[in-house]
Amino acid sequence: MNQTGILFVCLGNICRSPTAEDVFRARAAQAGLANRLRIDSCGTGHWHVGEPPDPRAVQAARERGYDLSALRARQVSDSDFQNFEYILAMDSDNLAHLRRMAPSGFTGHLGLFLDFAPGHEGEPVPDPYYGGDAGFAHVLDLIERASEGLLAHLSERLND
Ligand code: 4NP
Repeated sequence: MNQTGILFVCLGNICRSPTAEDVFRARAAQAGLANRLRIDSCGTGHWHVGEPPDPRAVQAARERGYDLSALRARQVSDSDFQNFEYILAMDSDNLAHLRRMAPSGFTGHLGLFLDFAPGHEGEPVPDPYYGGDAGFAHVLDLIERASEGLLAHLSERLND
């Protein structure tokens, strides 16, 4: 079966994008779309490659029933533009980085993840790394909302 590739991208791949990967994977599974989608995440930076998600992100996600613990950080690579049709950045800095990397023939969707969250179009998922626990809960709120919107968008397309 043809799969659509969805890649979530932040800076470190230890807070926002692994959270998005796991939340969206859970929502896609609930919607019966797990085998139609290939879901992954990465960071534009290299500092945390090979590391598990930040313990604060793991804890905040666990409180809502998600398990991030098995994920490991990786850095975005040129091949991601061949392997993923949707490349969704958490903020405008990461989006700018991805736009510089994107080959001219890239025909997929490259944009902000929150463009799929009604009422939050054009906004970033704020970087929670230097803040407190409330930042991680807010990240989850935004990611859950955008995941619903992305799933609705994809459901329509995949049922065509
Ligand atoms: P993330 O958060 O991009 O959501 O994974 C960050 C993680 C690490 C750093 C910055 C943001 N850092 O500067 O190391």
